[in-house]
Amino acid sequence: MEGLADDVLRAVLTSAGGYDWCVTEFVRVTTTVLPHSCFTRLSPELKNASRTASGTPVRIQLLGSDPAMLAANAAHLALLAPAGIDLNFGCPTPLVNRNRGGSALLDDPELLQRIAGAVRKAVPPSIPVTAKMRLGIEDTDRALDCALALEAGGMQELVVHARTKQDGYRPLVRWEWVARIREAVRLPVIANGEVWKLADYRNICAATGCADVMLGRGAVADPLLARRIREGGAEHAVAADWDELKNMIAGFWAQVQLKLPPHQSPGRLKQWLGLMQRSYPQAALMYGAIRELRRAAEVSLALQRCGLILVSADPTDCHPDFPPGGLEFSSLQHSHPAPA
Ligand SMILES: Cc1cc2nc3c(=O)[nH]c(=O)nc-3n(C[C@H](O)[C@H](O)[C@H](O)COP(=O)(O)O)c2cc1C
Repeated sequence: MEGLADDVLRAVLTSAGGYDWCVTEFVRVTTTVLPHSCFTRLSPELKNASRTASGTPVRIQLLGSDPAMLAANAAHLALLAPAGIDLNFGCPTPLVNRNRGGSALLDDPELLQRIAGAVRKAVPPSIPVTAKMRLGIEDTDRALDCALALEAGGMQELVVHARTKQDGYRPLVRWEWVARIREAVRLPVIANGEVWKLADYRNICAATGCADVMLGRGAVADPLLARRIREGGAEHAVAADWDELKNMIAGFWAQVQLKLPPHQSPGRLKQWLGLMQRSYPQAALMYGAIRELRRAAEVSLALQRCGLILVSADPTDCHPDFPPGGLEFSSLQHSHPAPA
């Protein structure tokens, strides 16, 4: 998820288990073949056999409208051996759509097929190529045509976000359309949208006939949801989960400080806790404690007051402009060293 599920959050979330694979934020392809550094910046996991630290495969998502350019970029990306390449036909944001990308292409199934076919052909068969779509732009009239076009283009899996572009993120989700698509195509269909708890997963599988779901915001709100779905654990988040989550938050905070400049790192933590408070009251308290804070060092202190044991992260992985030893890092690393 763009601006949210970066490599740091992917590492933390997948460490809890329950994921078959995950996908990067989208890379926009326009008129050039992007350098490898663009892909490795977005997905440092490419240097780790395209897996998160805990071993979850990471697919790289491309977004664009030019079949030839998408194919050229996919071929170049394939040299880095990604665990998969995913094509985005779901993004509803005006900037992306104005440039004919994401869900704006859902009125043109023929173009979808050409894009899918060109990318599939450009990439070795060993690399899965998959697609993600919404149900349409303003209505669902072409939903089946789009899904069939992506299948004809050789996609191996299809994630269907059960809304049109016009639906945005309204609570209404059109599961019946995911069911229709699943019945119309032979490739595996993965249902996406509004999975926040175990019961949502069960209801959605029942309504769509899909065996799998893709978690979006629910994965961020409840970092243990995927595991709970896989293992059939407690119906809701339980109090005992919070100890595990505190460790995840501490790890995330350490890594975010290494990746981002000090004025940006508090925002990332607030973003995560802001979503997590939907599932955990303790996260709401923590969010309240840091909401007004701007400096990383102040946030570290507030987190400790909330009972977090701060850890230091691998300094070789740091933001080049903000090496450890700077004011913000020294307060993190020297005042609260990781337990031996
Ligand atoms: C902040 C944000 C960024 C997103 N970025 C992407 C993206 O880069 N690629 C993508 O396929 N979907 C993206 N999505 C859509 C989600 O993957 C998902 O399809 C959508 O949120 C519906 O699922 P949910 O209700 O479980 O969140 C984004 C959603 C949000 C809220």
